Amino acid sequence: MLELKNVSVRYGMIEGLRGVSLRVKERQVVSLIGANGAGKSTLLNAISGVVPTCGGTITFNGKPISQMPASDIVGVGVVQVPEGRRVFAQMTVVDNLRLGAYLHRKQFKPSDMDEVFDLFPRLAERKAQLAGLMSGGEQQMLAIGRAMMTRPRLLLLDEPSMGLAPLVVKTIFSVLRALNEQGMAILLVEQNAKAALRLSDYSYVLTTGSLTREGYSQDLLVDPKINEAFLGKRVEVHA
Ligand SMILES: Nc1ncnc2c1ncn2[C@@H]1O[C@H](COP(=O)(O)OP(=O)(O)OP(=O)(O)O)[C@@H](O)[C@H]1O
Ligand SMILES: [Mg+2]
Repeated sequence: MLELKNVSVRYGMIEGLRGVSLRVKERQVVSLIGANGAGKSTLLNAISGVVPTCGGTITFNGKPISQMPASDIVGVGVVQVPEGRRVFAQMTVVDNLRLGAYLHRKQFKPSDMDEVFDLFPRLAERKAQLAGLMSGGEQQMLAIGRAMMTRPRLLLLDEPSMGLAPLVVKTIFSVLRALNEQGMAILLVEQNAKAALRLSDYSYVLTTGSLTREGYSQDLLVDPKINEAFLGKRVEVHA
């Protein structure tokens, strides 16, 4: 479905990504894990067209998208939920959702909004609330809901669990699982490696701009090196 071949990104002198090749197949959840500054957001931004690539190809269902403007990439069904949610703080929940649909499809069906409210009952209880006054978890739900309004075929998520309490993370991940069961493919960037590996079918590890590992998530979950590096069983370093 999504295929990156040898994709590179540069920020002036800095190499953001070096020759990255990965795939997301139809109906798959793929996770991308890696430390701060590894290039995870850069990779999602390159796919969604927010950041230009300087080498390699990105195709979606066989069609090259790496030279397309970001709005056209949304049009083919690839939609990103950016890091730090970025909902429209001064707008209500309903207006945020409406704008999500309007920006990408022009017309909007009230039934699409009902689907979002079915997924996130919490948002249904807060339809008229200003997004900026909601909790971090509610804003993340809204950011995902807003992306759903564009009817994505592939959802790109940048650290949806960031800064959220474990119970809220659980809610969000169970919604992602439900969306995937309905047929949506997901590329998930996470620092919460355990949650990401548990949700996903296949995973990639990014280290300073290059992919250094890939494999079935169930295998990586029990891999000693992955455990040491990402799953919390690491040796404390004292300054
Ligand atoms: N717009 C930019 N201009 C210059 N350098 C950038 C830009 N965006 C990212 N970088 C650099 O590219 C590298 C990768 O950044 P990126 O944000 O993709 O990492 P990340 O894996 O998402 O990190 P985090 O886990 O902290 O979100 C970093 O060294 C970062 O400083
Ligand atoms: Mg990031």
